[in-house]
Amino acid sequence: MTNVAIVGTQWGDEGKGKVVDLLSEKADLVVRFQGGNNAGHTLVVGDQTFALHTVPSGILWPGKMSVVASGVVVDPEDLIKEIMSLTARGVVITPDNLKISEKAHMILPYHRLLDAARESAQDGQKIGTTGRGIGPAYEDKASRVGLRLGDLRSEETLLSRIRLALKEKNCLFQHLYGVPTLKAEDLVKRVMVWREKLWPFLANTALIVQKAQKAGQKILFEGAQGVQLDIDHGSYPYVTSSNPTTGAVAVGAGLAPRDLENVLGLVKAYSSRVGEGPFPTELTDDLGQRIREIGHEFGATTGRPRRCGWLDAVSVRQAVDLCGVDRLAITKLDVLAGLGELKIATHYELNGHWLDYVPADCQDLAKCRPVYKTFPGFPANVGSARSLEDLPKEARRYIELIEELIGRPAALISVGPEREQTIILHEYF
Ligand code: IMP
Repeated sequence: MTNVAIVGTQWGDEGKGKVVDLLSEKADLVVRFQGGNNAGHTLVVGDQTFALHTVPSGILWPGKMSVVASGVVVDPEDLIKEIMSLTARGVVITPDNLKISEKAHMILPYHRLLDAARESAQDGQKIGTTGRGIGPAYEDKASRVGLRLGDLRSEETLLSRIRLALKEKNCLFQHLYGVPTLKAEDLVKRVMVWREKLWPFLANTALIVQKAQKAGQKILFEGAQGVQLDIDHGSYPYVTSSNPTTGAVAVGAGLAPRDLENVLGLVKAYSSRVGEGPFPTELTDDLGQRIREIGHEFGATTGRPRRCGWLDAVSVRQAVDLCGVDRLAITKLDVLAGLGELKIATHYELNGHWLDYVPADCQDLAKCRPVYKTFPGFPANVGSARSLEDLPKEARRYIELIEELIGRPAALISVGPEREQTIILHEYF
């Protein structure tokens, strides 16, 4: 019996898509447990590139069950498009290999409108969201005015619940944001079209996960975003509205916390962040620009350029402790080849004191200056390395230093986007 959760230890975009894909090959179940279509997991399979948003990465492997569990917020319209575009490219998606939780909350058009209206309001509250309505959907879930996919069961219930939700939303649209209001009846018509397409996929996914766990099947929990964006532990308010930490595996997928066996923490060899918020190791100079270009650091969901910087061991250490990470997947090592001298932040300096932890207050974090360890870079291309011995000695030293500073061994090192561009040091399944 074995399962493993994959979590991003930074601000998302650590290259989870490729790593989940690698592990999916041997898994029986691949489960998304939080977030929504704000995620963009890029996978390169042969000569094809896929960017998945809500559908778990396991879908690309025949014979696997992919599960969208109840902790995920689902934009039905977007999910239907994603399923159709994958199907058009030859990916087999049926109610037998994709199960979506009937308890998952829906992202409705008014959530996207509200997200956009807030982000464009000039009141200093801009978060730099993906604009997918994620925050407003989770808000409605917590306020108990949300609609779950299971509510597609009854047109009557839908109408009364959408009317209830729109009472407040339309007031905001009309009086606060000056945007057109929505009509419940129109929305219900739109929603009923989704019902036809999605109903066959709906299931009580917690039961599926628990049954698989009891049967000793191999389960992969696919985290989205990264721990630094966690609504409780990230740089609030510049965070997403879910918990990308492993605690959310239990709640979001319906697995007892003590049943989670392994946690693989994704660490990109440098850092990137998209959206607003403090980023102590950010490089705003030409080097940051070079890393962005070499690493193709543009959002898979929104296409926005990502802010880039050195690896921040202080925040990754925090993520490792919060998530119980036992091993690391170090990704995009190849991007640093040929850049010259490399740096990793080992501490922060705040008001003359050295910190080895991330301060809770976002304004304090914004004042932190990174304390760096500097060492020689590694030459040329590392993309053909398939073992540690194939790497230049400086690159090996870089890996060792990450392991030392973070206190966990590497399970794999990714040296390029292709599946085979991977140094495997530990097998989970
Ligand atoms: P939201 O999740 O769309 O509400 O956006 C909140 C913050 O999280 C913004 O800074 C986004 O750029 C960031 N964010 C959300 N999803 C991802 C992701 O998958 N990768 C990287 N950043 C993300």
